[in-house]
Amino acid sequence: MRVYCAADYYHASRVAANIISAQVIMKPDCVLGLATGSTPIGTYEQLIRWYEKGDLDFSQVHSINLDEYRGLSPENDQSYRYFMNTHLFDKINIDKKNTYVPDGLEPDKEKACRDYEEIIHAHGGVDLQILGLGHNGHIGFNEPGSVFEKETHCVALTENTRQANARFFASMDEVPTEAYTMGIKSIMQAKKIMVIVSGESKREIVKKAFHGPITPEVPASVLQLHSDVILVGDEAALAGF
Ligand code: F6R
Repeated sequence: MRVYCAADYYHASRVAANIISAQVIMKPDCVLGLATGSTPIGTYEQLIRWYEKGDLDFSQVHSINLDEYRGLSPENDQSYRYFMNTHLFDKINIDKKNTYVPDGLEPDKEKACRDYEEIIHAHGGVDLQILGLGHNGHIGFNEPGSVFEKETHCVALTENTRQANARFFASMDEVPTEAYTMGIKSIMQAKKIMVIVSGESKREIVKKAFHGPITPEVPASVLQLHSDVILVGDEAALAGF
């Protein structure tokens, strides 16, 4: 595993964006595995800046996102599709037809998951998977206790997660109860994985995930078994790592 420790969030985001840029330049029709959450926002902002300067071309890139709430439409401002459109896709020259997020409105759960795995396989897999890291070690919506051999599947959100998200919705009833997520197996099949971490609050879990035992109780610990993982973070998150 290669570790890049930058001074702060801004510089860590630049390192992460540089790694994505290198991937896009070396393979213009690559498949990027993308994440939502607060951590990659700075990375996406940097990619947009370089695109605007004319340094990056996303016209042949395909992207496959990690997860999506079940039941939310792409227009819902809490959906991950909406997040990706507003934080990245609307601001670069990627063809939206080449961007994939699980279909939150597909009523048939099995079909939604099967279709998504087919999309991943039809694209020859993900070249570079971007991951954020949950405070409990989750990756995607794979929470502690998730089995490692799962592909894309539907998960029930815990009451804790729903409560934490409630502030973004008009009422508790509107908070989704389920989500689709790429499974650990799907994530581990990416050719290269980049985990981005920032802030002191991630310090403990970074240590556990990358220096602790490999266990489903810390889903990200499985990444120790992948042969090409890059960890990018700021000093706050990586101090003492
Ligand atoms: C996002 C995702 C989540 C986040 C994780 C970290 O698509 O799947 O696993 O990566 O919750 O979130 P932040 O970056 O907000 O700390």
